[in-house]
Amino acid sequence: MLYDHHMGIRFKKNITFKTKKIMPANILIEKSAEHIIKSKYTVAFTGAGISVESGIPPFRGKHGLWNRYNPEVLDLSFYLENPVHCWRFIREIFYDFFTDATPNDAHLVLAKMEEKGLLQSVVTQNIDNLHQEAGSKTVHEFHGNSKRLKCLKCGKMFDVTDIDLKNIPPKCDEDGEILKPDFIFFGEGIPRKAYENSFADAENAEVCIIVGSTGEVTPASFVPRAAKQNGATIIEINPQESLFTNYITDVHLKGKASEILNQIGNHLF
Ligand code: APR
Repeated sequence: MLYDHHMGIRFKKNITFKTKKIMPANILIEKSAEHIIKSKYTVAFTGAGISVESGIPPFRGKHGLWNRYNPEVLDLSFYLENPVHCWRFIREIFYDFFTDATPNDAHLVLAKMEEKGLLQSVVTQNIDNLHQEAGSKTVHEFHGNSKRLKCLKCGKMFDVTDIDLKNIPPKCDEDGEILKPDFIFFGEGIPRKAYENSFADAENAEVCIIVGSTGEVTPASFVPRAAKQNGATIIEINPQESLFTNYITDVHLKGKASEILNQIGNHLF
């Protein structure tokens, strides 16, 4: 099903590969800033890489979470059968280590771009709330948010700061049901509003800035592809190549999110 969150699906190479000119990094930065200034509608698509400099590890790669943990703990059917087992890992991965993370310059530059009318929205796969904490207003949370917990029985929402996670699994104070983090597990549907708004923005985008994503997870990775198909210029910020780089990316800015966005910011404000 298109709406469900899946990992490990590879793109087919069905978009014409354009040979990119090799240009010095500072010229690429300047050109990217020009694209952004000219664009009437710019969207950022962000992945785990944008939060690495805030101390949150990515999912894939050498130091990735999926090298240390079994992704089955975030598989919806496995979770529903084994919530207590899964919660032990969920607490460790998402709540023990990263609750004190704060936005880095990459989040802050995107927020400033929005404030100055140079960015219309952020579509994020991240569940860490750092875009909102940086001041971004229009954020489409494609995979939900770890700061909220939800009762699957009555639908009541809880702010994680009101819950004592020393006792797991956390339970609903209305009906005693186990609470689930309000982020999207594998096999779970993408929140309809975030999905629709993200693809509507992809259609409108004249420029799409991809920051720190391998592009391995669907349907999220279809968002920048949709932007490309609708004619957007794709600027990618990533120290590595991703599944986007040789397929849809027009300008690959090789480097860390905060460094590159700070340099772009110097041309914008
Ligand atoms: N700046 C920019 N990019 C970086 C940085 C950095 N400082 N550090 C790492 N990266 C890049 C990596 O090169 C990699 O391409 O960030 C990317 C992180 O990739 P993933 O861990 O796969 O993250 P993402 O693509 O966001 O994962 C998508 O997978 O498990 C699921 O639901 C989870 O939302 C997540 C989804």
